[in-house]
Amino acid sequence: ENSDSRILMQMYQDAAKLYSHILTKTENGNNALKYLHDRNTTDDLISDFDLGYAPNDSNLLLQFFKDRSIDESTLRKSGLFAENDQGEMFDRFRDRMMIPIKDENGRIIAFSGRILNKEKGVAKYMNSPETPIFSKSKTLFNLNLAKRGIREEKNVILFEGFMDVMSAYKAGVTNGVASMGTSLTDQQLYTLSRLTNQINVCYDGDDPGVEATYRALTQLNDDRFNYGVISIPDQKDPDEYIRSEGAEKFQQLTKSAVLTPISFILRYFRRNYNLDNEHDQLEFLNKTLQEIVKLKSPVEIDMYVGQIADELNVSTDSIHKELENLRRKNA
Ligand code: UTP
Ligand code: MN
Ligand code: MN
Ligand code: MN
Ligand code: MN
Repeated sequence: ENSDSRILMQMYQDAAKLYSHILTKTENGNNALKYLHDRNTTDDLISDFDLGYAPNDSNLLLQFFKDRSIDESTLRKSGLFAENDQGEMFDRFRDRMMIPIKDENGRIIAFSGRILNKEKGVAKYMNSPETPIFSKSKTLFNLNLAKRGIREEKNVILFEGFMDVMSAYKAGVTNGVASMGTSLTDQQLYTLSRLTNQINVCYDGDDPGVEATYRALTQLNDDRFNYGVISIPDQKDPDEYIRSEGAEKFQQLTKSAVLTPISFILRYFRRNYNLDNEHDQLEFLNKTLQEIVKLKSPVEIDMYVGQIADELNVSTDSIHKELENLRRKNA
């Protein structure tokens, strides 16, 4: 780790401290603090995750670091500033609630900033760009705190959003992480494989979340892991669920309502296909067989083959034959 990285990390720590001060101790932060309180974010959570507020000022952080004699090239490298056509720097994050993103050791290496109010054409979340200290593909949000919970619970919960991770943590579900808005990379999987062999996907319960869960399950085929799905009822996301149903019910959900991939996928297909129609029936059969063929336990295989045979009104024998064909094809 070179001196460059050390300076950048110090800058992120100083910036986070400034943003946090503005949020919690100044008039300037009142709106943001009200926004957070309105969505039931407690002062406890705000302080545990070092949340802050970047005011609507394009020079605040720039001046702050210039006053501390940080040289121009370091400022540019930091990712904390954007540049206009003339190459002049200005604060990248303005009028946003700031979530520090930390490395495995708890050092701040990036930010995600959320706008306070919906605005057309403005991204709800803005993340730091890649820098010498921040690589999106290596980072897992909250891994620093979750490591212990992951080992204790013997599984990691993968959330969609940073707010979900934080709410869950405060609700006592301490083994949650989120990727930086992409599917899990090989590096992230490697990191997790040192801690656990069970990944439970807990994405939003709305349609995009359910679609993303399906995509995640079909993409995640790393043999080091078993996979599960925690499905949030009523189209809510985990944060909303915790707010409306409470911490205890959420804890129960994450412990005792973990679906196997195949049962999630069966539910997903039953929802998306019209099983009265032959074309859909065949597609349903096709897709489910691709999942069943991955199973190793003969009992489990029999169970699902039985279910599907019943549903489609075909014989279990013919389904077993189809499975045999698939196995031969995959071999
Ligand atoms: P969601 O739209 O579900 O946001 O996007 P959320 O986490 O529930 O956020 P709140 O509750 O409205 O504050 C899920 C995740 O997708 C990424 C973020 O990581 C977000 O947490 N995302 C979403 C972005 O990166 N940019 C966006 O503009 C929107
Ligand atoms: Mn308060
Ligand atoms: Mn979502
Ligand atoms: Mn959400
Ligand atoms: Mn949300």
